Amino acid sequence: MYDFHCHILPGLDDGPKTIDEAVEMSAALCKTGFTGVYCTPHLIKSVYEANNDLVLDSLAALQTRLNNENINLELFPGREYYLDEFLSGYLENPLPLGETNFIMLEIPIHISAELIKDACFLIKRRGFVPMIAHPERCSIFSTSAKKEKSWFGFTGSQRNAKNSKQYESSRLIEYLKDIGCAFQGNFGSFLGIYGEAAQKTANILSKMRVYTHFGTDLHSRAGIKYLEGNVKGEK
Ligand SMILES: [Fe+2]
Repeated sequence: MYDFHCHILPGLDDGPKTIDEAVEMSAALCKTGFTGVYCTPHLIKSVYEANNDLVLDSLAALQTRLNNENINLELFPGREYYLDEFLSGYLENPLPLGETNFIMLEIPIHISAELIKDACFLIKRRGFVPMIAHPERCSIFSTSAKKEKSWFGFTGSQRNAKNSKQYESSRLIEYLKDIGCAFQGNFGSFLGIYGEAAQKTANILSKMRVYTHFGTDLHSRAGIKYLEGNVKGEK
């Protein structure tokens, strides 16, 4: 089982501060059933700016520690790219997920559908495939408990549905699927750790077979507690 979204490299973002904590996280992931982890530190201008060489060096150092300590976990490089005006510059020399062509994209709150489409086209023009990180946690894709029935299924009148946020969200999802985007869900969203709305949206997106990949989005040793005993057997 692979973890496609994990802040496990120390000192690069809001993940672990030390390599010792990263080793503890790795051991816990291994115990939980993971065999491979894509290391996806944030890349956000003026907030988390570690360059790709630092990411690769950090990964190599952690992998060496894991090998020495017989922790059977394979690490792969990656980034979580923030969608803003600096994305285009960062994509001049991007770090996709391991040997794949996937570029993980974090969508900020209060962003328009048009900007999301533009960013996905930009990634595709550079020869990569956008992977939307945890869409269930993005306000533009979220649905509320009250309006859940109109999401995708359009159980209300078509006219009303067309006016709803859910209709626009579902159109955006379908559009992004059509142009070949991948969608990564967080395991924790299904367990409710980000709240009811994210959980409901995750279940709906799952039912609609939107997700192509899953990840922990783990940031600390403490963060894995909710997963222990919950994700074994998931693919
Ligand atoms: Fe993340």
